[in-house]
Amino acid sequence: MKAETIFRLDGQVALVTGASSGLGSRFAQVAAANGASVVLVARRAERLAAVKDKIEQAGGRATIAEADVTNRASIARAFDAAEKAFGTVTLLVNNAGVAHANRAVDMPEEEWRRVLGTNLDAVFFTAQEAAKRMLAAGKKGSIVNVASILGLGVSKGTVAYAAAKAAVIQVTRTLALELAFKGVRVNALAPGFFMTEINREFLTGEGAGMTRHIPAGRFGEEGDLDGPFLLLASGAGSFMSGSTIVVDGGQVLAIPPG
Ligand SMILES: NC(=O)c1ccc[n+]([C@@H]2O[C@H](COP(=O)([O-])OP(=O)(O)OC[C@H]3O[C@@H](n4cnc5c(N)ncnc54)[C@H](OP(=O)(O)O)[C@@H]3O)[C@@H](O)[C@H]2O)c1
Repeated sequence: MKAETIFRLDGQVALVTGASSGLGSRFAQVAAANGASVVLVARRAERLAAVKDKIEQAGGRATIAEADVTNRASIARAFDAAEKAFGTVTLLVNNAGVAHANRAVDMPEEEWRRVLGTNLDAVFFTAQEAAKRMLAAGKKGSIVNVASILGLGVSKGTVAYAAAKAAVIQVTRTLALELAFKGVRVNALAPGFFMTEINREFLTGEGAGMTRHIPAGRFGEEGDLDGPFLLLASGAGSFMSGSTIVVDGGQVLAIPPG
């Protein structure tokens, strides 16, 4: 089979959460460039409009659904808008996320709940919404959850983030187990460090020397996730269910400092 055929997403309706910046904006553009109709979801409508313009200028199809993933009614409305524009969502890219820097002993309850609410609860309920609608419509589909290498290992100041990302990997496996028979595949990506709005301040400051601990000698760059993402999203990964693909330049292999 030719690579350009099996990685295509023609006929797919992709809903990408956190499409207003960083990795999500890239996933949306890659999905559109490979044939999917894309629904861009996040809170900042102006940023979504800019991504939509980029996709359309490149010849792709996209629509905007402004939504807060921590609000289940808001998420349901985004799926309604997706169905109205393009039909049942068959590819969910569950990517929206937030970070924090609090050490565990100083972690305020509201910050814990904010991070878990966005990075775990919203990931589960968005996947549940997508799966319910795929099953009701009798459609096969793919759900790609964005975890992190911090779901596999930990570093200081990541207690809520790491707990949520580890849980996302287990949610991925459980959903995969329950949905594979229905033709809905659920997998996760576990990226290493990619410089985006979520971490730019840290990676250009205190964390700048971290590349010393990455066997590849650098942070992830735009494009490094395109192939792994397309593998999970497309027919190229048709027998993959419950997998977590680590994309980190070898970072989880190395013994971390301190
Ligand atoms: N960058 C990395 O090194 C790295 C590594 C591993 C995993 N990840 C994961 O990759 C995902 C994307 O992160 P990123 O690096 O691209 O960060 P980013 O540039 O800060 O993007 C985060 C996205 O999440 C959206 N978002 C946050 N809260 C939301 C909410 N309540 N409702 C709707 N959208 C919300 C933001 O949109 P609005 O603010 O417009 O709503 C934004 O589009 C996250 O899950 C992150 O944990 C990132």
